[in-house]
Amino acid sequence: SWNMTSFAESKIKQIKEIVGGKKVLCALSGGVDSSVAAVMTHKAVGKQLVCIFVDHGLLRKNEGDQVEQIFKNQFDMNFIRVDARDRFLGKLKGISDPERKRKIIGEEFIRVFEEEADKLGKMDFLVQGTIYPDVVESGTKTSATIKSHHNVGGLPEDMQFELIEPLRELFKDEVRAVGEKLGIPHDLVWRQPFPGPGLAIRVLGEVTEDKLAVTREADAIFREEIAAAGLSEKIWQYFACLPNIKSVGVMGDSRTYCHTIALRAVTSSDAMTSEWAQIPYEVLDKVSRRIVNEVPGVNRVVYDITSKPPATIEWE
Ligand code: XMP
Repeated sequence: SWNMTSFAESKIKQIKEIVGGKKVLCALSGGVDSSVAAVMTHKAVGKQLVCIFVDHGLLRKNEGDQVEQIFKNQFDMNFIRVDARDRFLGKLKGISDPERKRKIIGEEFIRVFEEEADKLGKMDFLVQGTIYPDVVESGTKTSATIKSHHNVGGLPEDMQFELIEPLRELFKDEVRAVGEKLGIPHDLVWRQPFPGPGLAIRVLGEVTEDKLAVTREADAIFREEIAAAGLSEKIWQYFACLPNIKSVGVMGDSRTYCHTIALRAVTSSDAMTSEWAQIPYEVLDKVSRRIVNEVPGVNRVVYDITSKPPATIEWE
């Protein structure tokens, strides 16, 4: 809309004035908010902005490459992709408690980010994708923590930066509108919410590369079929998770003992409550068949039919 165009133009102008000749740092996750904030800042100050993308190896299939393609190639940003996959897997070895996993990932994220930022010398500003609901939420922290959320907004408090938060007045749909105006690809702008700890909380219990690979492949098939059925924008979130149970199956004339994949898809308006999505049986059928045929190590697929509450959207 015209509104969002003029909003973007005036913010970009403002950022340019504030930053002047100084340097700006950004922790880019590939999520909608940090992406829009980064592109806006890039339009204002170009290569004075350095984006650090911590690849923790817990992203969905091809996601890291897509993020790199968009920001490094399409937008020609000063973009650093840190391959920290082994570090995160190492830290997660032997850990199966969900809260500990979340905590470890959050802390390691900060450590990796700080190390990379240190290499850049003095940076003056930090751009963050804080949006209006975040501002409101953090102002009224009353509820007990159900799960400790991690996102790139939670960066070190002792780092000395001035903050640039160009999206502070916007709701999510307005952020998306700005994103489209700025030329960010549709898929990214309309990306479903994805938790900071990524696939590590969709692989229940201990995280291993093998389990991640199984989950990633099954998830990619589910997403492909949801898109093919034209349901992507009708469902709030949809993903595969690996409950970490094996069960008996049969293939040809031999017995198998393999992983179960659970499919989760919900409708919601704000993630506070949600209903399980009533995906047509034909779509579920196709997804199930494809997963057992195409993903080695899986012989059973189940569909999660619980709402939130009492379940949560994620399984951990
Ligand atoms: P739950 O599982 O609590 O999730 O019903 C509610 C929403 O939050 C997302 N989620 C996260 N987002 N960092 C995030 O940025 C996190 O650590 C995190 N954990 C859950 C979840 O995907 C859903 O949209």
